Amino acid sequence: MLEYYLRMWQDERRLGAFREAFQRLDLRGQTVAEIGTGLGTFAFFACAAGAERVYAIEPHDVIGKARELARANGWAERITFVQEDARSVRLPEPVDLLVTEHFDPFFLHASVDEVILGCRERLLKPTGKFLPEEVVLFMAPVSTPEFYAELERPVRLVSKLGIEPQPLLATIYGKPIYRAFSAAELVATPGEVHRLRLREATTGHFSASLSFEVPRAAEVHGLLGWFDLRLLEGLVLSNHPQFTATAWQQAFFPISPPLAAAAGDRLHVELATFPWIDIIWKWRVRQLRSSDGAASPTVVAVRNHDSFASILCTEESLGRQGDDWRPLLNERGRIDAAVLDGCRRGLAAQAIIEELRASFGDIVRDEAYARVLLAETLRHRVDVAGRSGGGDHPTASRSGTPTTTSDAASR
Ligand SMILES: C[S@@+](CC[C@H](N)C(=O)[O-])C[C@H]1O[C@@H](n2cnc3c(N)ncnc32)[C@H](O)[C@@H]1O
Repeated sequence: MLEYYLRMWQDERRLGAFREAFQRLDLRGQTVAEIGTGLGTFAFFACAAGAERVYAIEPHDVIGKARELARANGWAERITFVQEDARSVRLPEPVDLLVTEHFDPFFLHASVDEVILGCRERLLKPTGKFLPEEVVLFMAPVSTPEFYAELERPVRLVSKLGIEPQPLLATIYGKPIYRAFSAAELVATPGEVHRLRLREATTGHFSASLSFEVPRAAEVHGLLGWFDLRLLEGLVLSNHPQFTATAWQQAFFPISPPLAAAAGDRLHVELATFPWIDIIWKWRVRQLRSSDGAASPTVVAVRNHDSFASILCTEESLGRQGDDWRPLLNERGRIDAAVLDGCRRGLAAQAIIEELRASFGDIVRDEAYARVLLAETLRHRVDVAGRSGGGDHPTASRSGTPTTTSDAASR
């Protein structure tokens, strides 16, 4: 887990560009909120740039390390760490600047609308700014035989061993793969796919049509996606494969089987995204060839891919998406319900534990396990207002009492 954040700290281009953006902004007397603060890096940049107050929002426990870093660097007074999910977080005041880099390699992830654009409505002043200001998505066809061979290797191997992998192919080639590519693998001039001003956009989802001319014969294995973050006017951070790879790398959308493109062929691409539990990508590629004397080009090949096919699910789990599904609590659900009911009745943690042991004694055999269940159920669901017994700090005690760690709520 920490490795994930240290990988970000190794990304000089990303850090340098965001730091420069903060330096260019005059944040004196301004309030800032960061969505997904991780180790707090951007919150610290905001303090260094003069921000008066910074709300650093992060649902995961890495926030504890961010808080330690803030103390060690003398910024703790100005930063309020809020351990909550950005989808439901509220702050004591609207802010002047909202910053985030919680993006996938091709920008969009399943909760962009709720986490990023939804936050804007709740947290940002009407006159406030977004950093980055704008995101522009690009795409180009790529030829990457070695990587494609790697992708195919398990399929080839099981085929040799007598297993027919056909039912798995749409799954394997049905989702974008995140990895660093090189500009030498691009086989056509990139095209702009979509552009999103974060201050105004109402959704990150889009559909786009692009057309690429392949200038030289090439085997086309997929489409590569990346973005330019227009941090501020004239300051761009890009994960284009021509630059040293950022922590984001790029998104590879496979084309299976690959297309044998002749010089002058055109690839018409339609790309669309749909919100679901996970983001659904659909991409369709038509390969067109013009021949002398023909009135219009002929379609040489068509490939359709859909990341819905790449979701591992059973018919039963799909059934659970239906509107007529009536969910029934299992044993763990009944335990959760009992814990939440104990909270609703204002019970102290110890009393809830005793109730759990009395009601679910065959599963909750000892107190230590009861505490684990309590903590799991209450994680991110309790308010510091509920703390009891003269405790003056909401942070979990070493004995495991469940709590939140939102400094904002404790002010
Ligand atoms: C790319 S990292 C940010 C790293 C940070 N800027 C740093 O330099 O350490 C994105 C962060 O967003 C957080 N995140 C994910 N989902 C979130 C949500 N729903 N609300 C708030 N933060 C979220 C992740 O836990 C992660 O720490």
